[in-house]
Amino acid sequence: QGPATVTPTGAATGAPPEAVAQQGMYLTTSQGARLRSTDHALKAGPRGPVLLQDHHLREKISHFDHERIPERVVHARGSGAHGVFVANGRASKICRAAFLGKDVETPVFVRFSTVAGFRGSSDTVRDTRGFATKFYTSEGNYDLVGNNIPVFFIQEGIKFPDIVHAVKPEPDKEIPQAQSAHDTFWDFVSLHTEAQAHVAWSMSDRGIPLSFRMMEGFGIHTFRLMDAAGETCLVKFHWKPRQGVHSQVWEETQMSAGADPDFHRRDLYDAIDAGAYPSWDLGVQVMPDTPEEIFEGIDLLDPTKFIPEEVCPVEVIGTMTLNRRPTNFFAETEQVMFNPGNLVPGIDVTNDPLLQVRLFSYIDTQITRLGGPNFSQLPINRAHCPVNDMFRDGFHQDAVHGGVAPYKPNSLDGGNPAEADDDSSGYIDIPTPVAGNKVRELSATFDDHYSQATLFVRSLSSAERQHLTSAYTFELSKCYEEAIRVRQLQCLANIDADLCAEVARGLGLSAPQPTTPPGDVEPSPAVSQLGKKWPV
Ligand code: HEM
Repeated sequence: QGPATVTPTGAATGAPPEAVAQQGMYLTTSQGARLRSTDHALKAGPRGPVLLQDHHLREKISHFDHERIPERVVHARGSGAHGVFVANGRASKICRAAFLGKDVETPVFVRFSTVAGFRGSSDTVRDTRGFATKFYTSEGNYDLVGNNIPVFFIQEGIKFPDIVHAVKPEPDKEIPQAQSAHDTFWDFVSLHTEAQAHVAWSMSDRGIPLSFRMMEGFGIHTFRLMDAAGETCLVKFHWKPRQGVHSQVWEETQMSAGADPDFHRRDLYDAIDAGAYPSWDLGVQVMPDTPEEIFEGIDLLDPTKFIPEEVCPVEVIGTMTLNRRPTNFFAETEQVMFNPGNLVPGIDVTNDPLLQVRLFSYIDTQITRLGGPNFSQLPINRAHCPVNDMFRDGFHQDAVHGGVAPYKPNSLDGGNPAEADDDSSGYIDIPTPVAGNKVRELSATFDDHYSQATLFVRSLSSAERQHLTSAYTFELSKCYEEAIRVRQLQCLANIDADLCAEVARGLGLSAPQPTTPPGDVEPSPAVSQLGKKWPV
């Protein structure tokens, strides 16, 4: 019996894979029979009814009828590009992942997106942007599925359906398309106050980037890295655009959205076509892997918190350049699947309760969106290294597997496939102690909902601050329910009294007193705590 091996093709070369239904010079049916005409249906006489027996007509119309797949439940509108990541080797001291070795080049595919709008919505709306990167490494695909804002709305993944229900158009009128201009959005974030830091970033100029090329990206969660000797550290990932960070002003976004709803997509493709390849440095903040998983008073498992760079600088570990746009939007940008669980040896997740739920959600939704469990075989999703799993059959199975024994151990297929035989090869679930009673609660270290919003608001220049005030005032003025506006003003009072007073004035309401003292996370001068092996 031959080994049950599936080898990757197509995407591995970097060239677009050959389209199986686009070979030869002549128009054919899907079965390869040459066609004489595709413009006229078979009829009973030139003025007669169309005949059911017209196989080509039925095949053509029926295929068209099924051309659409469901759009992503979030991040439906996106634009992708291919490129390459080149590591500078600095991360090898803290991580055994092969693609982080000095001068290693790894092909990548990146998809930028908005979160709330439909697939055909405008690019320049006020929203969070997705920044998802697939690294086709020699050890398997690694996905860094991040956003352009370093903090998230909610602390627990179990609330994700709730925040998305609040952010998407309201169910009765199906308006508005914009993330932040409606009652359910402000109702949610003023009741689930952990969202306030993310909202402050969204209301700032970060929520209306000038282009994808000029956005930062953040992995948000804390990840655990392991080096070749088995030592671990905790990190947060950052993408820093070499083009600088730039935003539109609100009036520009309105003009762009009207005159060119594809503004960001066009900008990305035009830049690549012109040879002005956008690039980003990938950086990490490295922190010691202590049992508490708290750094400078900030809980590293809380995805609504970031670590200020004054407290822990970002160290560059490589550079990504996007140099090729997709040949086919559907096959690449639409069919790509990202999953925070796609990890390679040396990189592991932490117990961040948001990340833990993401590990289930992406694969689950993709089974519906991509029509079954075999989406890893799509050219854009294939690993660029040999794949030898024991998954068989299912909808859209493309592989013709050999062998008879897709189980282990077996005595029929020569024992194939073998497992990694030592600690230096294969994926490692980094051993970390787990103990505790089963509970539905969060650590008290997640309780502070305001200090990071305060920190962010107070870091803004006066022009940025003015934009922030106008954005809060405008978006809240679209709220029909005054009680919700008043509740959000209470949150602003807890973040920054001056900001609250200015927004209240704009809304014609009075500014409330804070219910909790505004938080003060002073950037600490103790920058020496950078993790045991950094800088290298
Ligand atoms: C899609 C980021 C939290 C569920 C995406 C995408 C990005 C992203 C960038 C678009 C991927 C693409 O371009 O195809 C994030 C970030 C999060 C977060 C940075 C928090 C730090 C969550 C949570 C859940 C979730 C908590 C669920 C519990 C989904 C789903 C999709 C998605 C279902 C659609 C995937 C698909 O259809 O392929 N997310 N997300 N996300 N996210 Fe998240």
